[in-house]
Amino acid sequence: MVDQSALEFIYDPAVYERAAPVDALLALQPQRVIWVDEHTLPSWPGGSGFWLVLDHALCGEVLKASKQFSSSLKGTQLRDPASAEDLHYVQQMMLNMDPPDHTRLRRLMISAFTGRAIKALNQQIEAHAAELVDNMIAGHRSGECDFVSDLAADMPLRCLADIFGLPSQDRYLMYDWANRVIGYQDPDYASSSRHDLASGSAIARQALALQPQPDSNGQLPDPRSRAGMPDLYRYAHLLAEQKRHTPGDDVMSLLLAAIDDDGAQLTNEEFENMFWLFSVAGNETLRNGLPGGMLALLQHPNSWQQLRAEPALLPSAVNEMLRWWTPVMNFRRTARDHYRLGDAEIRAGDKVVVSFLAANRDPAVFAAANQFDITRSDNPHLSFGYGPHYCIGAQLAVAQMQALFGELTRRLSSVELAGDVRYLRSNFQRGIKSLPIRWRC
Ligand code: HEM
Repeated sequence: MVDQSALEFIYDPAVYERAAPVDALLALQPQRVIWVDEHTLPSWPGGSGFWLVLDHALCGEVLKASKQFSSSLKGTQLRDPASAEDLHYVQQMMLNMDPPDHTRLRRLMISAFTGRAIKALNQQIEAHAAELVDNMIAGHRSGECDFVSDLAADMPLRCLADIFGLPSQDRYLMYDWANRVIGYQDPDYASSSRHDLASGSAIARQALALQPQPDSNGQLPDPRSRAGMPDLYRYAHLLAEQKRHTPGDDVMSLLLAAIDDDGAQLTNEEFENMFWLFSVAGNETLRNGLPGGMLALLQHPNSWQQLRAEPALLPSAVNEMLRWWTPVMNFRRTARDHYRLGDAEIRAGDKVVVSFLAANRDPAVFAAANQFDITRSDNPHLSFGYGPHYCIGAQLAVAQMQALFGELTRRLSSVELAGDVRYLRSNFQRGIKSLPIRWRC
């Protein structure tokens, strides 16, 4: 009989604030798939329970079998949507869709990321990395800063502003919105106001007039519902209208002009949902992935020196950082029918959660899986998922990491930890809230 209280660490967000329980998960890995009850905890509402898939091959099997394992039935988060209305809301995002709706949006999206658009984005990414490191060095004469707030947080915002063709100063809106969503699990992020109303665009001012206000108990509406993000939706709506009227050469203008197989275009509502998804998926993942990669280098100073000496290792080093850290720790599916997965008999309607954190350390796939090795050449990590929902932004995420770590290792001769690391309270995103560093040029 399994002691289910000993498995609470898997879904208790408070545990992750101390550090992700990698060793405890790996101790369970030989079982490949386990059933986990979901108890009510101070920071978890409880739930139906779920199958946790710990094995690399079985995670791949679930993610590929999208007919049997649905992204849409109950969404893709470990936590169930709180109401039928909230479920309906998340089902509007391609992340939480099944074919054919998903296929249509994905095709449209991919057609907008043309070779020319990607080339332009890559050039902009290189320029952002150089400017961010310049600012870091010039702005902190002491040679110390917080890698998260002073550097990492801005990189994905700049890149998203390029993708959307936004006025650069409006990028902090996406920072504040992503924080509102994450603040749902970690109160440190719940209120964020980095956006400067005065320097923002006219559409930003119009959108922010709809910013949600706390109720009489000081409670804001759930940011995972449409009512929790009226300002984001207003902004996205106004942006779509502006881009339809005066298209730019950015990816989102291309997306709005793209035509699907039936000769139809993306609706404004579809664009608004895409805007939400990108603002969170393309933002928070890197705000965590970049510091995760940095922490790996801080813990392995020889790798830092090796990377400085051999910049050609950058691609394999970044891949290894993504495996080692695993910025998104899991995703959820719901079984449509009975399915035998390994030795587990999964019933229709069961929640199935794939653990990228465990799969990325599977010794059956990765030699010396618990070693950080920037020369690792065979590295089929699952950090960007697998199958039909494989991350659309993977190439851009890798480009951002390569540009930033390339610039840092070129410019700084050494770097070390200068204080305590603070982790995010989340069982979904493996986040770092603060990473104090000290460097020498
Ligand atoms: C290190 C950074 C990133 C990580 C670790 C990451 C991880 C993931 C994962 C695991 C999935 C699969 C979800 C599933 O199977 O249900 C996914 C999907 C997605 N990602 Fe990323 N992501 C990153 C960066 C980005 C960026 C930069 C963008 C946009 C610019 C982006 C946009 C998306 C979108 C739109 C999807 C949904 C794809 C679909 O449903 O077909 N991601 N991401």
